[in-house]
Amino acid sequence: MTSKPSRTTFVAFKTSTLGPGEMRKLVLPDDRAIAIYNVDGKFYATDDLCTHGGASLTEEGILSGRIIECSWHFGSFNVTTGEVVTTPCSRDLRTYAVSEADGMLYIEA
Ligand code: FES
Repeated sequence: MTSKPSRTTFVAFKTSTLGPGEMRKLVLPDDRAIAIYNVDGKFYATDDLCTHGGASLTEEGILSGRIIECSWHFGSFNVTTGEVVTTPCSRDLRTYAVSEADGMLYIEA
């Protein structure tokens, strides 16, 4: 039997520095790149790399509401759930739990 690696909580940034409709990449100490989105004042986090061809969504994507479209081949995802919205993407994005406290954003990854 294998056990899942435990998740760690990372301090991301001050919530006031990422406004609605904005997104930002956060690179964790183990080099995983996480994309953090502000959708109408609520924060969400997914893997930064598009599951189709590996584009950085924070660098190459266009965020409209809760949908991010990857500009490489125009696939898209719902950033609140990680689910694929349009092809050619076929694999959902991994999502991460986020929380806010004292004006700071925390990511469980
Ligand atoms: S790399 Fe994102 S849609 Fe192809």
